[in-house]
Order: sequence, then C-alpha cells, then structure tokens
Amino acid sequence: MDGTYRALIVRESDGKFAHGIEDVMFDFLPKGDVLIKVAYAGLNYKDALSANGHKGVSRNFPHTPGVDAAGVVESSADPAYSAGMEVLVTSYDLGMNTKGGFAEYIRVPAGWVVPLPEGLSLEEAMIMGTAGYTAALALYKMEVNGQEPGMGEIVVTGASGGVGSMAVSILKKAGYRVIASSGKSEHYTWLHEIGAKRCINREEILDHTGKPLVSPRWAGAIDTVGGATLANLLKACNRNGNVAACGLVGSHDLETTVYPFILNGVNLLGIDSAETPHALRLKIWSLLTGRLKPENIGKLGTLVALEEIPKYMNEILSGETVGRIVADMSK
Ligand SMILES: NC(=O)c1ccc[n+]([C@@H]2O[C@H](COP(=O)([O-])OP(=O)(O)OC[C@H]3O[C@@H](n4cnc5c(N)ncnc54)[C@H](OP(=O)(O)O)[C@@H]3O)[C@@H](O)[C@H]2O)c1
Repeated sequence: MDGTYRALIVRESDGKFAHGIEDVMFDFLPKGDVLIKVAYAGLNYKDALSANGHKGVSRNFPHTPGVDAAGVVESSADPAYSAGMEVLVTSYDLGMNTKGGFAEYIRVPAGWVVPLPEGLSLEEAMIMGTAGYTAALALYKMEVNGQEPGMGEIVVTGASGGVGSMAVSILKKAGYRVIASSGKSEHYTWLHEIGAKRCINREEILDHTGKPLVSPRWAGAIDTVGGATLANLLKACNRNGNVAACGLVGSHDLETTVYPFILNGVNLLGIDSAETPHALRLKIWSLLTGRLKPENIGKLGTLVALEEIPKYMNEILSGETVGRIVADMSK
C-alpha cells in the first residue's frame, strides 16, 4: 500500500530509547500474509518492556510494540482470510520483534491470525487480549489437573492488574470463589464487583515463620508476581491443588522446597501464552466466548487514544494501572 499510517514508534539512539506517535510509510511493516487494519490494541506489561528497550523482548529498533491487536483484514495472500473479515492476533512474535498492535496497521503470517470468535466483539476481544487468554489458559491447565470449585477458594495475585483482573472474573464466571490479593486497597470495591469473594493485602500472602509448609489457605492459585509470593502460594496450597505461574512482576526467582510437591501433591503449572499450539489457542478463545467469558466485561477495560498509550506504559511498569488499558484507534 502507498502512503503512511499512524503508529507508536520506539527509536534507539546511543543506547537510549524514546517513543512517540509518528506517521510512517507502509514499507515500515514487515513482509507477511495478512494486512490488518487495527481497531483496538490491548496494553500488556511486555509492551512497556519493549518500549523501554528490554532486549529480552525486542532487539530491533525502530519498532512498534503491542502484543495484542484486533481489527479487519485489509488484504490477504492466504485464501483463508479475505478483506473485511474480523480477526484478532495475540502473542507469537507480535510486538516483540515483529511490528505490533499500537498502530493503524499490522502485517502478520496467516498462522498467527484467529478469526474473531462468534459472540465476541473486537472491543471485547482486546479487553481480554493476552491477559484474558493467559488467565483462561491457566484455569484450563488447572482443570486438566483436577481443579474444581468444590476444592475451595482460588487466590489470584496482582489481582488489579491485567492478567489478575481477568483471572478474578474468569474464575468467578466458572463458579470458583476467588481471593483477590492486591497492593491497592482503594480498588477492593472494584475487585468485588468483577468477581472477588474477598480481598487481601498482597503482604498477607507472605509467611515469615520459615517453615517449608504451613496450614492450607487456598485450594489453588493464579500467580502473576513470582518470587517469594509464588513460593508462599505453594507452601500454603491445599492437597492436590494447582498453582499456575504466569508472571514475574515481583521477581523472576523462585526459592522453594520440594515439600509442597511430594507431601501435598501440589502441581506447579507453567503458563506460556506466546507459543501455545494453534489448536489449543482456538479452544481457549472459544472458552472465552462461552463458559469463561467474564460478566460485565466492560468494567474490566478502559478505552484510550493511541496517543495516551505512552503514559499508561509508564504506569504499568510501576504497577499502577487497573484492569486492562485498550487503545481504540477511532479515538
Ligand atoms: N505467562 C504468560 O504467558 C504471560 C502473559 C501475560 C502476562 N504475563 C506476565 O504476567 C505479569 C502481569 O502482567 P500484566 O500485563 O497483568 O501486568 P499489570 O497489569 O501491570 O499487572 C501486574 C499487577 O501485579 C501487582 N504488582 C506490581 N508490582 C508488584 C510487586 N513488585 N510485587 C507484587 N505485586 C506487584 C499489581 O497488582 P496489585 O496492586 O493488585 O497487587 C499490578 O497491577 C507480568 O510479569 C507479565 O510479563 C505472562
């Protein structure tokens, strides 16, 4: 295509990174099968790392972050997609070393594209985005390992964040009683509204006795924090419970003993949303349109203009955002 499109561009100069909204030529986009006009793009923690030059996320600059995008096919070299189809793309390499969703257009391989599931709008798909997908994948793996609501309460850490808030709502929808662990007591009312049965301060997760096991406090967990939080989730988990490790906002370390595993049969489940096989990806999205679709989904997301994304990128890095922030390209 000729002409330019609007995008958030991260530029590197002398090892320093700066980002802003620019008009760029279409040949800035990578080669690929499907050109998509982006309608909405959800903000994730990883996007803020990319925008700040985190080499574990993005190595090639100038770059456009954004691991989530939903929109309408403009043109496609793959017959499976035709102009006008509503689609979404999350994860794989989008927004990492492939120009991502914070732009009016993306161009991606056909294998990354998911047709918008029936029963979901483009806006809803991006309110969920990678966060909702990750939370649903975590619950799916927990249930494959035998988790069910009758076993007891599930604790969600980083509950006011993107993955956390989606986990709270999805668990509630699936019939679980949810303990929301958060550092933001001012948002407890909102956490109750989106599905938490009770809220605790994130410090309450931490046991200071030094014991390898403590009395069970929950039947399972979805964790976005890592480090001491994850270690404590394991040692206070009920017999045969499942703890899904999704994130590392607290720490990438994990210091634990084997006792939760060999004495209580606790399962530690790894959650990797980026490289899920395509068939499982389609299954998780179909769960998100039905059994796991959060009620009051509008309460979980804030729609903002593309120009506002840099501000929210700073906030997400310091853990200040609440729920999902979604760029609405029509604003
Ligand atoms: N495994 C995967 O496939 C996958 C997919 C998506 C995201 N992730 C990871 O999941 C994590 C969360 O991502 P997100 O997009 O949901 O981020 P987010 O929106 O920023 O949520 C993170 C939340 O964690 C809490 N928090 C922040 N700093 C903390 C600290 N130092 N100690 C304890 N809690 C802290 C805050 O919630 P409260 O104030 O409520 O405690 C914050 O809102 C990130 O590590 C991200 O990389 C992994």
